[in-house]
Amino acid sequence: MFLEPARQIAGSLSFPGDKSISHRLVLISLLLEGSLELINLSDCADVATSLMLVEKLGIEVRRDKKAVKLRHSQQAVNNFSMPVELDCGNSGTTARLLAGILAGRPGNYLLTGDTSLSRRPMLRVVEPLRQMSAEIECSDGGTLPVRISGQQTLTPTFFFNHHSSAQVKSAMLLAGLQAAGNTVIEEPFASRDHTERLLKFLGAGITLDGGRICLNGPFRPVGDFSFNIPGDVSSAAFFAVAAAIFPGSRIELKNVLLNPGRTGFFNVLKKMGTGISFREQDNIQQEPAGTVTITGGDLHGVEISPAEIPSLIDELPALAVAMAFADSPSQVTGASELRRKETDRIGNLISQLQKTGVQCHELPDGYYIAGNSRLTEAVEVDPANDHRLAMAFAILASRSEKGLFINNPDCVKISFPDFFNRLQNCITG
Ligand code: S3P
Repeated sequence: MFLEPARQIAGSLSFPGDKSISHRLVLISLLLEGSLELINLSDCADVATSLMLVEKLGIEVRRDKKAVKLRHSQQAVNNFSMPVELDCGNSGTTARLLAGILAGRPGNYLLTGDTSLSRRPMLRVVEPLRQMSAEIECSDGGTLPVRISGQQTLTPTFFFNHHSSAQVKSAMLLAGLQAAGNTVIEEPFASRDHTERLLKFLGAGITLDGGRICLNGPFRPVGDFSFNIPGDVSSAAFFAVAAAIFPGSRIELKNVLLNPGRTGFFNVLKKMGTGISFREQDNIQQEPAGTVTITGGDLHGVEISPAEIPSLIDELPALAVAMAFADSPSQVTGASELRRKETDRIGNLISQLQKTGVQCHELPDGYYIAGNSRLTEAVEVDPANDHRLAMAFAILASRSEKGLFINNPDCVKISFPDFFNRLQNCITG
């Protein structure tokens, strides 16, 4: 795909529901006695994978214009003699969270995934789940396929979440719902807390005390629930950066998730010189949301420290684009987890930025970007089939002098199928 340079970015956008929250709502249906109405559910390929798998496990899925409705069907299959293969595609959230749920659900399961997911670490979920008496195994390399023989009797445990991974923490909490007693979790830096907020919304006994999470199990949510999912702030982030790199641009991001565990990149953009204003709306389902207005100004370099990383981990490719056009150098450290995402996001991001003329280099756990970039050649960049890299390069192209070619742009469907249309509508050429 060839992407032309732009002169300005303008528009008012709303987004499909947040991907992290959408996954959690779909997957929790497996533990629910009752029904769940999901308004503004994410339409991305990863969430479609979670939906397809809960359906395979016996959840009735109905779609109408307004919502997706999930309900335990009468014939919900609870026990299988042959392992049920559950192909998680490209979705790490599906694989990790499902492992936690299935560890406590009688039956035999085999979690698999595509080539990228099959390279990503699963031992970080398998080991702590074993500490809860789960019968779970991964391949010798610590990856998929993962085999689970679901146990009715899980034991609660204390778990220190070394990687500050929300997926691992969520797997433990979902297993903890099926264990009698207190499952307690601590982490070096707070990771996104959507599972904790969702469990509170569903009525579970969960407390947070100075960074220590305590879930009292067993708990099974019972009832008919409805959830209106705020727009995906990680998708909105690309448009925030698009406006930030064009002084004088203005963009409005409507009804986006404003959970502080996800909005670290707004703070960074502000520090760099972007105008940002927030208008919060009512928070009725434990998740704050609102409208954010971004105005582009002159950008300055910034340093992002390890403590900030969990709140902006998925936005680091987009932020790298803002850093490329700052008037001084920027540096990110403490982000080695970026190498374990859909691709090695440090290696692929930096090698492709270098191709376009951006002065930058890798650090073992982050990157350095010199700033003051001029992209004078219409080169081809390869996102290595990674949706967030493809979207970052598309934003980069808008401030190039002759445009950029992007290889396999289709991979954006993993998190944001309508990305290119939306971008086109915001660009003034
Ligand atoms: C996610 C958590 C983060 C994030 C991923 C989605 C989630 O990963 O990078 O895109 O929904 O819990 P880790 O939990 O591996 O940090």
